[in-house]
Amino acid sequence: MLKWVIVLALLGAAPLVGGVTPTRNAPSAGQVGIVTILEGRATVIRGLSQYDALEGIRLLPNDLVRTDAGTFVRVEYADQTWLELGPETLLQLNHPAQKRPANRPGLYLLSGWLKLECKSDPPASRSLAVKDLDVADLSGAVVLHATGADLAIFAERGTARLINRGKRGAAPMMAPMTLNEGEFLIVGQGKPASVQRRPTADFVAALPRGYLDTLPYRYSRFEARAATQRNQRAFSYADVEPWINAEAPVRRQFVVLWRRKAAEPAFRDSLDHDLAMHPEWDPVLHPEKYEEKYEISAPTPTGRAGAQPLSRAPTTACVREHVRADRPQQLTGYNLKLLFKFNLVFILLFLLGIAASGYMSWELLQKNAREEVAENARLMMSVAVAVRSYTNQQIKPLLKTQMIYSFLPQSVPAFSATEVLNELRKKYPDYGYKEALLNPTNPRDRAVEWEADIVSRFRNGQAEKEQYGVRATPAGSSLFFARPLTITDPACLQCHSTVEAAPKPMVDVYGPANGFGWKFNETVGAQVVSVPTEVAFARAQKAFVTFMTSLVVVLVVIGLILNVLLWWMFIRPVSQISSLADRISLGELEAPDIQVRGRDEIRTLAESLARLRKSLAQAMQLLDT
Ligand code: HEC
Repeated sequence: MLKWVIVLALLGAAPLVGGVTPTRNAPSAGQVGIVTILEGRATVIRGLSQYDALEGIRLLPNDLVRTDAGTFVRVEYADQTWLELGPETLLQLNHPAQKRPANRPGLYLLSGWLKLECKSDPPASRSLAVKDLDVADLSGAVVLHATGADLAIFAERGTARLINRGKRGAAPMMAPMTLNEGEFLIVGQGKPASVQRRPTADFVAALPRGYLDTLPYRYSRFEARAATQRNQRAFSYADVEPWINAEAPVRRQFVVLWRRKAAEPAFRDSLDHDLAMHPEWDPVLHPEKYEEKYEISAPTPTGRAGAQPLSRAPTTACVREHVRADRPQQLTGYNLKLLFKFNLVFILLFLLGIAASGYMSWELLQKNAREEVAENARLMMSVAVAVRSYTNQQIKPLLKTQMIYSFLPQSVPAFSATEVLNELRKKYPDYGYKEALLNPTNPRDRAVEWEADIVSRFRNGQAEKEQYGVRATPAGSSLFFARPLTITDPACLQCHSTVEAAPKPMVDVYGPANGFGWKFNETVGAQVVSVPTEVAFARAQKAFVTFMTSLVVVLVVIGLILNVLLWWMFIRPVSQISSLADRISLGELEAPDIQVRGRDEIRTLAESLARLRKSLAQAMQLLDT
């Protein structure tokens, strides 16, 4: 049992032991960098072995990092300093915050791309080195590209002091100088060193893509769990050759560090072959030449880094014949007259009802349509305002870094609002949004005649906050809704006052002719929203026609039903009673009584007539007797 405990303990300890021995003093937590982003392939050389870099591995002072083509690596430190390595880069790491002993390379870039960025609050002074040059007292961010003897340095943010460390007399690069924010320096290419006010197009085109992004700080994500080293193996002479043959102050450390490698025949032979490029290895390779004991001073490299009118009754006997002759017609006419009267009244009411509800619904629908159009216009305006503030608050900060190299209109709120609403127009072509200006930066924003009138009403004070109106367009009438664009923030003037004050990359894109000379508190233009009225009014008309058609159908059906009921319940029994009364009046006292169902007035009338017939029959009997 105890044996297993010992074995497990040893296995657990193994990664700590393996390959971590180049520094004599254990590095403090602040000196340990963490690889937080790795795209592509990078190798770390530590001590006498090399291994593949992974997201989450720790990098210790003095580690050598090599990146392959297309690789991007980001290394972060506890104090929010970070390094970004581009493709085909060789870098020796030292904690970028470490004090840099005079004249000795700290964070050392042998070749390739490096971006070093440090927090500016509180200001942190960092330094790094390349061949023959120290970049000291760096605050902000700097981008370097070293290829052979050529070097390009861009002070993206903050400043950096450059100190020539080249041999006195040899290639006079320059005297110590300060590279200010936005300045770009090229050394080499067979030309004298020159400082330019902006980076060259070639440099910007070649920049590793990751350098343009404002990336989040990811240190805390990896802080608690360290990735273990992978694919640990020995390195060959070819793997480290650029380092062994670097400039003297850099390469000397390897004599101590890799002394044991000299025992490997292949490594030794290669070392011996290029001995002239690294003479300091001579005593290791050929100790016999040196009789007295040779002491190698170990350089310690460092860096920072959703109504019923029943008036017609057949009355007296005097009209008997007449009555007999007229009966059938009388019955019909009688009915017809009543029905006719009824229908006349009904139709009159019906028409009145139609007219009243037609008028009311038409007015209501039109009012709704107008409100809908106005609401659409207000909604579009709110969308534009929302896109503007979204761009300002969220997009602009993300593009901050890229804007230093090339001007991106995507960061301009006016541009985003116009683009988003133009996208909307693909589906709703008659809608429109425009930031109409008299003197715009982008010519597509120039106010056309009617828009210029709106702008001048705002400028003359004829309108204050909003303007509404309807305008005829080839596509039909359209409602516009406008709000003034006034410069209330002095920060706007950086890009809109003078060509000199504007960022150079912006002037490159838009030219020096338009969009300048705006003044503080000046109304320079208007946000104009156009909404077609046609659609809403066509819809209101359609709703009106549907409503009125159904109202007429319902009233006609009600009219028919009322005619049938009137016939059945009133006209038919009254006609029968009147015909019986006729027969009685003609002396037909034996005619049968009419049976009326129900308990209504018609039955009372039928019963009254029956009693009248009986009384009449008795009266006749009395007369006859
Ligand atoms: C970084 C420079 C910059 C700043 C700062 C800036 N603008 Fe602009 N602005 C531009 C550019 C570039 C355009 C043209 C974008 C396009 O292509 O549509 C523009 C366009 C506009 C437009 C549309 C009309 C036109 O000129 O094409 C308005 C309105 C506008 N800006 C207002 C403002 C206001 C208000 C501010 C301050 C809150 C401001 N800008 C700040 C660069 C800037």
